[in-house]
Amino acid sequence: MADQSYTDKPRTSEFANAVVLITGAASGIGQTCARLFALNGCQKLFLVDLSRPKLETTAALIERDGLYPQVELYDGSVADESSVKDMIDHCVEVFGRIDIACNNAGVSSMSARTHEATMADFDFTCSVNERGVFLCEKYEIAQMLQQTPSIANQKGSIVNTASIAGHCIIPTASPYGASKHAVVALTRCDALRHIQDGIRVNCVSPGPVWTPMLSEGGLPEEFIQLTKTMAPMHRFVEAREVADAILFLGGPRGSAISGVNLPVDCGNQLIRSI
Ligand SMILES: NC(=O)c1ccc[n+]([C@@H]2O[C@H](COP(=O)([O-])OP(=O)(O)OC[C@H]3O[C@@H](n4cnc5c(N)ncnc54)[C@H](O)[C@@H]3O)[C@@H](O)[C@H]2O)c1
Repeated sequence: MADQSYTDKPRTSEFANAVVLITGAASGIGQTCARLFALNGCQKLFLVDLSRPKLETTAALIERDGLYPQVELYDGSVADESSVKDMIDHCVEVFGRIDIACNNAGVSSMSARTHEATMADFDFTCSVNERGVFLCEKYEIAQMLQQTPSIANQKGSIVNTASIAGHCIIPTASPYGASKHAVVALTRCDALRHIQDGIRVNCVSPGPVWTPMLSEGGLPEEFIQLTKTMAPMHRFVEAREVADAILFLGGPRGSAISGVNLPVDCGNQLIRSI
């Protein structure tokens, strides 16, 4: 994925005036988002992940794309309140505000039935996927409420990364499914609560995407092939397709949209709904 060029699309200046914060930006969907925001004119990127060296790889890829925004890196965990508070303070100190926040950091959980799952797996999954998004939203909204309106006359815009597991029922990973349903619920609650404050909140629900979450997840080949063939489009979603949806919802083209959970899933939700 790192070798793929993202410079084949026409560049726009859609995000020229936006300060964009992305969590989980060292890999997969978050890394692709960072590159696409830069490609579309963003000059102020605040990238968050656990590992600084991996974040530096994202910054290097942006440069390799021939793009030179101001990129600020922050290594910290979204599951840790003091870290999230510090991350927001740091972003505001450097860039003065946050226009678009992409709360995308996440982890997958072991495939197990509820009565066989460990509490350690449940706690780990929910601490990043649910608590992490809650904490990010908590401090992002507090900051956005203080801001003057900017992009599309809004104070701010948030896009969370949920999952098809938060949209449909996939019974093989109940902690993951629960954590992603929670992301959808947080999105909808905060969207309604803050719609009149000029803050939009949306989420995307990707189907399986061939990122390190899957490729390094030690999944059996059989499962991988089955996942592909089961999808109505018979393929994985590309990280770039998810990133495109995030840019659309987060930016000025999504200005009338709040509280949606947009599946980006090669049609998976059509067959997995019950
Ligand atoms: N890959 C898929 O098939 C798929 C499908 C649906 C939803 N998603 C969701 O998309 C999002 C991005 O996943 P991806 O596929 O790009 O996976 P990925 O593993 O490539 O990237 C996830 C990133 O999140 C970071 N991260 C994990 N815990 C963190 C923490 N506590 N604090 C800060 N950063 C942390 C990781 O270090 C990693 O860089 C996740 O929320 C995931 O649940 C992925």
